Amino acid sequence: MSNNDVKSILGFDLMSLHSFSDISSLVEHALGSELLSFINDISIKTDENDADLYIVGGFVRDLLLGRPSMDFDLVIDGDAIRLSNELVSEFGGEVTIHRRFGTAKWYLSEELVSATGLNSLDLVSSRSESYDKPAQLPDVKPDSIKWDLQRRDFTVNTLAVNLSPGKFGELVDCWGGLEDLKTNLLQVLHSRSFIDDPTRMLRAVRLEQRLDFNITDDTVQLMVASLPLLDDVSGDRIRHEIEKILHEECPEAVLVRLQEIGVAGAIHSSMAYIVGEWLETKFALAREYSLLADIAPVYFGLWLYSLSIDESLSVCNRLQVSTKAEESLRQIGRVKSILSELDASANPSDVVRNLDDLSDIALDVLVVAVDSQDVRKNIEKFRNELRFIQPVTNGNDLLELGLMPGPDLGRILLRLKMAWLDGEISSKEEERVLVEALVAER
Ligand code: CTP
Repeated sequence: MSNNDVKSILGFDLMSLHSFSDISSLVEHALGSELLSFINDISIKTDENDADLYIVGGFVRDLLLGRPSMDFDLVIDGDAIRLSNELVSEFGGEVTIHRRFGTAKWYLSEELVSATGLNSLDLVSSRSESYDKPAQLPDVKPDSIKWDLQRRDFTVNTLAVNLSPGKFGELVDCWGGLEDLKTNLLQVLHSRSFIDDPTRMLRAVRLEQRLDFNITDDTVQLMVASLPLLDDVSGDRIRHEIEKILHEECPEAVLVRLQEIGVAGAIHSSMAYIVGEWLETKFALAREYSLLADIAPVYFGLWLYSLSIDESLSVCNRLQVSTKAEESLRQIGRVKSILSELDASANPSDVVRNLDDLSDIALDVLVVAVDSQDVRKNIEKFRNELRFIQPVTNGNDLLELGLMPGPDLGRILLRLKMAWLDGEISSKEEERVLVEALVAER
């Protein structure tokens, strides 16, 4: 669905946005009455401090695009720390303060939590930033809302709406955000943006694909020039952005575009040539076949599927992925090297022997990634049925039959399981007879 479709469904047209009364009703509608009255209380307190309260960034962007979200950021062009202390004295709750950034986190009282649906609220003083060194944390100082908005990544994220009494709904658009929102363009505010923070390259592509926008040619050129700076960004920060991408509705579009611009290859050279069409087909299949509530790790496995095991592990090392995720990739690599043992000629017990230690993630990746129909069927059969088959007899039963604890027990239980799998036995009675024979022949 295009942005225009979304907007027309909601009966709202960005092009015909004229006055701040239009925006105030959009904000009121998006927040709902409880949250609105809470925000009004905060804005009255802010006003008493001779400051204005703004809702900024992604919330305003999405609101004007007709995709309202409840993820909002508030900025005060005054002292957010003093304000937060006053709010706690009047409305209860607790506050934690970050003096260096002029920010406060207000943990709401139980009463406010149930009224607003929020657990906490970040209150931020408007500030400007300067970066001493690329990819490092910036120096910050209090500044006006205009300069607070200027430190943001893309023009469409620089919009703010004033929530103060008498100014409610006034749009602050100092950096061309509204124009770019109307023309579906994504661009940085200044040529140092990716130097200040190279992870913005990943954010740019994620946002472009999510919103169905176009990154401008100038911004693409700045990205290409800044690619080597990704070498200085920690694996943790890059992985965090990749995780966000993998939680998008259509991550494959983002990954393909990252590769096209050269970002994927700059993160790790092995990711420069992953075939886009294959990814598109397999990610769509994953949405159909994955059994997991969180499909992102399956996407990650599919993204790296065409790489050798050494390349995959090197990517894991670069991205500092968890040992659990790395283990799934090792398992996938191992199964990839023995796929012929899982073809139509494989017995169920062969299938189980080869797949028994696989994580749910690795299984979902293989079910989707493997091209051979026969192998795929066997993996799916293991995932859906074979792995749950267990003999009726357990270890205690064998001890009661006089066996001593030790490896014999495990061997017999495994033998029973394989007998069930391959149809050698198919009833409790047949299992009992086999148990007796196995115990006797030890
Ligand atoms: N921001 C930035 N540079 C970054 C990360 C964030 O300038 N590297 C700014 C963006 O302008 C953004 C705001 O900080 O609007 C809040 O960040 P975040 O909540 O991550 O962004 P959203 O735009 O709300 O979108 P999403 O939640 O999808 O990341």
